[in-house]
Amino acid sequence: MKIAVIGTGYVGLVTGVALAEIGHTVTCIDVDPKKVEALNQGVPTIYEPGLGEMMLRNQKQNRLFFTDQHKLGLADAAVVYLAVGTPQNTDGSANLSYVERAAVEVAEQIDHPVVVVIKSTVPVGTNLRIKRLMMRRIRPGVFIRIASNPEFLREGSAIHDTFHGDRMIIGTEDEATASLLAEINEPFGIPIVKTDLFSSEMIKYASNAFLATKISFINEIANLCEKLGANVEEVAKGMGMDHRIGSAFLRAGIGYGGSCFPKDTNALVQLAGNHHHTFNLLKSVIEVNNQQHRLLIDKILERFGSINGKKVAVLGLAFKPNTDDLRESPALVMIPQLAALGADVIGYDPIAADRGTKWISAPARYTNHVAEALDGADFAVIITDWPDIKRMDPETYVRLMDQPIVFDGRNCYSIAAAREANLEYYSIGRPNVV
Ligand code: UGA
Repeated sequence: MKIAVIGTGYVGLVTGVALAEIGHTVTCIDVDPKKVEALNQGVPTIYEPGLGEMMLRNQKQNRLFFTDQHKLGLADAAVVYLAVGTPQNTDGSANLSYVERAAVEVAEQIDHPVVVVIKSTVPVGTNLRIKRLMMRRIRPGVFIRIASNPEFLREGSAIHDTFHGDRMIIGTEDEATASLLAEINEPFGIPIVKTDLFSSEMIKYASNAFLATKISFINEIANLCEKLGANVEEVAKGMGMDHRIGSAFLRAGIGYGGSCFPKDTNALVQLAGNHHHTFNLLKSVIEVNNQQHRLLIDKILERFGSINGKKVAVLGLAFKPNTDDLRESPALVMIPQLAALGADVIGYDPIAADRGTKWISAPARYTNHVAEALDGADFAVIITDWPDIKRMDPETYVRLMDQPIVFDGRNCYSIAAAREANLEYYSIGRPNVV
């Protein structure tokens, strides 16, 4: 099948590469010629384990192409995926201008019937609106059909998730389109759920909102555990063994970040509001998450009183491990707060260190060597549970820091290990080690 994918961001690039890997001929289209040039040279424009090799293999086998020319990319394509961003507007709603622009471009260029598949996360009703928008612009005699096919991959494990997803949702207006998409995706071997357009769009928002709810819930339990002397890890383990609850997404920490949960939860609250429904539960989930981002600062001030002039090592800038993505990372909140309180901040990240200066508006230095960050520090703050941080012997803090005081926002070490290493250790929802 000849397929075009518009947008080579996270979702678009992974979708294009994966569709080529299962045997389709895919042309990815992006308006940014610099990105296209890099991709044509086999250089992935995002950091994602396993993506580069798969991309190169499919380019070499002439199944994967990149262009900034819509006309070229759309020629012969039977299916066109729209995988452009839907960032947040200032009022919290989803900004659909990129999706609309891409749809109009396709409508104006296409000269044969196509199925337009919307991968981008869009509010309920958008697929239908986009179809109508396109219908008003296509040439006479050209027909389009529309499908909603939301993406459930996680950054950092995108390739794994694409090939081992729990389900694929296909929302359409007719069985023929649903069957075509099921056929295209059949080689992934993932259970396919066929549904209507509106429900498909809602499944995506409801899934992200529910996962965010699980995180804020366990974080509230963690905060209570601290007050009551319980250990949130024990609690999460005991809760998660009930299959109705499930053990996933019950890791307490300094809150969720990234390009999806914050944006999608806000958009769903906004969407509900537009329909005169106040989504109180989700509003609280968002509020709890915002509070959680500030939690460690409170703990730090409680411990030190003032941190003016203290050297602090911030370990991890990315919103989670295995990505260089800083979007909505708790680091964006923590580092400016630490700097505003007079601390001398040095941030460490194995992959995203060189993004620090550009992304974080605070006087701070950045390094990709953990020892450099810890050297002579008065205290350390862990923001991202990078494997190298988790694997690090807690003795390292004792060896390198002026005072081995660690505020761990991701519960990277066991209480026993912290105690054994003689760390002064504050984590989330667990007893302090002092
Ligand atoms: C999330 C969803 O998991 C994907 O299914 C979805 O496709 C994607 O959003 C999207 O809408 O595009 P992602 O944002 O890449 O994926 O990352 P997650 O692994 O879900 O983590 C999100 C945040 O939650 C991270 O900051 C992580 O540290 C935090 N988290 C996750 C916790 O604090 N506790 C947990 O137990 C799990």
